[in-house]
Amino acid sequence: MYTTMAPMLAQAKQEGKGVPAFNIHALEVVPMMARTAAEKSCPVILQVSVSTAKYIGFHLLSTVVREVASSLDVPVALHLDHAAKLEDIGAAIDGGFSSVMYDGSLLPLSENIQRTQEAVKLARQAKVSIEAELGIVGRGKIIESYPYTDPDDAVKFVEETGVDALAVGIGTHHGQYKAKTNINLDVLKAIHEKVRDIPLVLHGGTGVRDEDVRTCVRLGMHKLNFGTELNVSWVRAAKEVFGAAEPDESLRELMIRCNGAMADTIRKKIDLVRFEGLGR
Ligand code: 13P
Repeated sequence: MYTTMAPMLAQAKQEGKGVPAFNIHALEVVPMMARTAAEKSCPVILQVSVSTAKYIGFHLLSTVVREVASSLDVPVALHLDHAAKLEDIGAAIDGGFSSVMYDGSLLPLSENIQRTQEAVKLARQAKVSIEAELGIVGRGKIIESYPYTDPDDAVKFVEETGVDALAVGIGTHHGQYKAKTNINLDVLKAIHEKVRDIPLVLHGGTGVRDEDVRTCVRLGMHKLNFGTELNVSWVRAAKEVFGAAEPDESLRELMIRCNGAMADTIRKKIDLVRFEGLGR
């Protein structure tokens, strides 16, 4: 079923489990992602960057996700990832998304709060869920350390904005698939001790060691984002499959094999965030 994100995260928080959020880069993978989650009885968040949403088309994407989700027994949400402009939040809402993220993490705290408040207003009017970000998650060139989220700022941010979920900076880095990150679990612990009411979000999940992902769930992260690793598994399979294919082979059959490689990665991530030992 097609739902908003907040109730899925609330339930996961109660159960001490995580909900995986998988990044989509092309429409082709959508049915496979949702059905793989359903096979594992796992609620799932399908998310896209603003560029991917524009490439596919907001409304077309939400129509496909809604249609696929309608025949599944697990909750499926469609989420706009890292929107830095309110007009993109508006486009996602008008286009039928059930969840959005406003990312003002590069702004000074007061401005981030003020813009996030405006985004929350839009989301509340449309009854969709909203995530925001405080602190920096790295992107591009890997540097030793990023400004971590200050736990007191996180309390203020959550109180003043009323967001449903908060992404925090604990040293993770988007797109890191060649090495694993040394995340700062002490910072996460300090944030978790102060921000008890809403779920925290892990960005840059690809670069996080499996055991650290589990610890992140224990320390209040209930939305866990994985993008690059899925992309890598599809493209690696594509290099092999397409490289060996004759030009008249069925494109469908070739893509099924690439989707199969991505589905294997999805199953592993689901097992990681739904790990039985995590229940309280
Ligand atoms: P990775 O691509 O590093 O897994 O990060 C995904 C993400 O956090 C999307 O916002």
